[in-house]
Order: sequence, then C-alpha cells, then structure tokens
Amino acid sequence: MGKPDLSRYSVKLLDHYRHPRNAGPLAEADGVGSAAQTGCGDLLVVRIRVRDEKISQIRFECTGCPAAVAAASAMTEAALGLGLDEAAELPDTVVGEAAGLPQDEWHCATLACDALHNAIMDHVTREIDRLSRATRRSGTKLPTKLLDITSQCLTMLLKPNFSAWLPAATL
Ligand code: FES
Repeated sequence: MGKPDLSRYSVKLLDHYRHPRNAGPLAEADGVGSAAQTGCGDLLVVRIRVRDEKISQIRFECTGCPAAVAAASAMTEAALGLGLDEAAELPDTVVGEAAGLPQDEWHCATLACDALHNAIMDHVTREIDRLSRATRRSGTKLPTKLLDITSQCLTMLLKPNFSAWLPAATL
C-alpha cells in the first residue's frame, strides 16, 4: 500500500490524523470492542474503562487510512466522560463532523461508533454476568439501567449499515 494522498483532507482531519487523541493500548479495560470494514480492510479496536456508569478512560488502536484514524480519534474525544447510555447513542454524524471527514469517507465514522458500541456491549455483558452470579446468590433483580443500555447497543448494532463485527480482536 502506497502513501495516502493527504492533500484531499481537511485541516480538522489532518490534525486528528497527525495528533490522534487517546491512541494506544489500555490495560485492564472494562470493555473491548472491535469493528472492521471489509471493503478497505481497516480495523479498529476500542477499549474503555468505566466508573459510575461513565466512560472514564478510552483508547483506540487502528490499522487504517487517515480518515479511519481521525474518526477514531474524534469518537474518543466525544465519548470520554459520557454516560454509557449517552455513548451508546453517539451518532456517527457527530463523529464525522468532529473528524472533518469528506463525504465519501463518512463510513469511517460508522466504523468508530460501531467499535465503541461493541466495547460498551462487552462491558455490559461482563456486568450482567457478574451481577447475575451475585443476584442468584442474593435473590435480587438485575438493575434495569443495565438492561436498557444493552437494548440501546443492540439497536445500534442491528442498524443496516453496521460494519463487520469482530469479537474483541487485538492488533
Ligand atoms: Fe476504511 Fe473508512 S476507508 S473505514
């Protein structure tokens, strides 16, 4: 693969590409999500830490073009500090705008949001598993908020343009 032609990209996009926010690994993540675009082969892995049902830390690792890296960077800025329910509904239009994506690479924002949704789903699945074991012992019910967030994520992941899903892949 040759060098990407950067002349077609916006100042906003190039800033995210050259100085990606929240790039790199994250140890002991509470949730890990991946998404891939089969067309271009780009792969994105997102890791989150969660405190008080908010995203307290987020990191990404991306093997992809400048637009995919910029979208991942912009997504992490937008998602950091959000409640899980708000992050599960983060629209790709907000990410695409923040990353300065060109119209023909808008799908990179979808890739970023899909990986985020998968990371949230992974966290919620872990929590449900942990709480189910605890509730089986104590006889109490699962918190409805967790179930709400699960259904929000599933709605996002089942949308028609959802990019190919990979289970918790590592780069
Ligand atoms: Fe590969 Fe956008 S060009 S995800």
